[in-house]
Amino acid sequence: MKPELGVCYYPEHWPEANWAKDAEHMVETGLAWVRIGEFAWSRMEPTPGDLQFDWLDRAIETLGSAGLKVVLGTPTATPPRWMLDRFPDMLAVDAEGHPRKFGSRRHYCFSHPGYVAECTRIAQIMGTRYGRNPHISAWQIDNEYGCHDTTLSYSDAALTAFRGWLIERYGSIDAMNTAWSNVFWSMEYNSFDQIGLPNLTVTEPNPAQVLAFRRFSSDQVVAFNKAQVDELRPLTDAPLLHNYMGRVLDFDHFEVGDDLDIATWDSYPIGFLSDRLEADEAHKTAFLQQGDPDMQAFHHDLYRAVGRGRWWVMEQQPGPVNWAPYNPAPLPGMVRLWSLEAVAHGAEMVSYFRWRQAPFGQEQMHAGLLTPHGDDAPGLAEARQTADDLAALGEVQPARAQVAIVFDYASDWAWATQPQGAGFDYFRLVFSAYRALRRAGLSVDFVSRTKVGETHYNLILAPGLAVLDDLEQRLSRGCNLAILGPRSGAITEDFLIPEAGRPGLDGLSAHVDLIETLPPGVARAVDGGGHAEHWVERLSGSAQSLLSFADGTPALQGDEGLWYLAGFPDEALWDRVIAMAALETSLALCPMPAGLRRRETQAHEVLINYNAFPVVWNGLPIDACDVLFRKRNPDQS
Ligand code: GAL
Repeated sequence: MKPELGVCYYPEHWPEANWAKDAEHMVETGLAWVRIGEFAWSRMEPTPGDLQFDWLDRAIETLGSAGLKVVLGTPTATPPRWMLDRFPDMLAVDAEGHPRKFGSRRHYCFSHPGYVAECTRIAQIMGTRYGRNPHISAWQIDNEYGCHDTTLSYSDAALTAFRGWLIERYGSIDAMNTAWSNVFWSMEYNSFDQIGLPNLTVTEPNPAQVLAFRRFSSDQVVAFNKAQVDELRPLTDAPLLHNYMGRVLDFDHFEVGDDLDIATWDSYPIGFLSDRLEADEAHKTAFLQQGDPDMQAFHHDLYRAVGRGRWWVMEQQPGPVNWAPYNPAPLPGMVRLWSLEAVAHGAEMVSYFRWRQAPFGQEQMHAGLLTPHGDDAPGLAEARQTADDLAALGEVQPARAQVAIVFDYASDWAWATQPQGAGFDYFRLVFSAYRALRRAGLSVDFVSRTKVGETHYNLILAPGLAVLDDLEQRLSRGCNLAILGPRSGAITEDFLIPEAGRPGLDGLSAHVDLIETLPPGVARAVDGGGHAEHWVERLSGSAQSLLSFADGTPALQGDEGLWYLAGFPDEALWDRVIAMAALETSLALCPMPAGLRRRETQAHEVLINYNAFPVVWNGLPIDACDVLFRKRNPDQS
């Protein structure tokens, strides 16, 4: 494939007289795609039923005839104000019981049937009007599900839908009481009508109920998305997509992705470093204007799996954003680096957010490729340079990695429901594993739990995987070595300790006898180097002890093909475990210095230097904030 560039554009924000000039300028910059429409409902339908699409017809025609491929968004993330007059109860309700009011965006509850019907109506109208328009080359449904904490809603609509979901899942109230063990604290129900949502309880609600509510809430997002997919599918052959976010795990992206053709995500590296990543101050300072060297790659690899191989960056940070606690500018070269890094991970398209900075509204401090007055912002020259680089690069074919991580959204919901220790967080654990693999120079794939076993890997890591079920068998088919733990196989679907114990593996005699969680700064040393922090399990069993804690209990226990890790490893422990696994599976490691990362495509080894200074690696000089694609040695595996 030949990767391309694009940009997000809001024709409704600018005089129509500017559109043609903007389109020409986009093409001249080397952009091939433009995304429009995703927030424009109040202009498409200013009052109920008054459809005003002429301006959008002209915008599409202007952009398309300039040579741009258009991604058209359904505007359902921003219901117009009149929608609330129609459905005053359509707002999501927060855990404190307050409605989340009109005046910004995403002011809807996924479970409100009236609003869902309005969304399918507008999707149907748009599909009918533009489904066969030759300029419409893709459709984005809604915008950033879950953004601004909007997946969970404690509204009346959610309550009604939750009860229906429970009836479907459990059939009878007795079955549900048993499944949740509601005998505890006399929580037994006599009928489904008595069940409430798990908020505003005196102390913590039953974790079984919370996990059920989290599964339900995820299913509501899947159904909401699918309702629009079902309208658009018969009306267009263009691919359907959604733009996901960084470190938002509130719904199962794999399930939403299964109904779509392409996964895209919105990458804001500098914003993410300051607002959603645990790291020490030295790290945050070193990468303040570049972003974390693994955070973008993690999501590229994850969304490649969500898109079943097809994925884009729908919004790429082009300069300072407006929403993080502090918003420094990218160092020169970083906008190009982020774009080419995405390509190295298999992106078909990278699109900048946004074309021109808005001089109004909530995001007037957010950079675009152009200033609010239309002059070039620093990101523009880098976008142009990237377009030239891509033209010179030609075809890029992604390569399958030898190592995979099982990623499971429901595990995050489970551990957020009962963290047990403040430092234990599913994303944090999986990200620490990912970082370790990347420090070892490995390319990484993600697999959903349902796809484990379909592709064979040398090594699979499944840290923190809450429920195992039949995964053990599929893992043994799917790789030479699987490493589980900590906290894998720790609960059933209904949040009970499994009858077979934890982790309850058939193929490995390893049993969790005791669990401790530790505050920051306290860790359990492992003989020979490294520590477990946040979470430590005391193991027994006859499987071999491969690494031990100072008290003699195993830190890593395993037999052929299956290992279990008894704590949340720090960097040194992860590095040891990966080195041992590499030895076991004949995996070649390629240790990388801090800030330098590596990803293989079929033809290239790509070196990505996030450092603000040049590095020399294996005799190869790499500039600060630079990316090198070098031809792979054909013997390299
Ligand atoms: C994304 C969103 C865009 C814009 C952008 C600002 O989360 O999809 O509409 O708000 O952030 O960085």
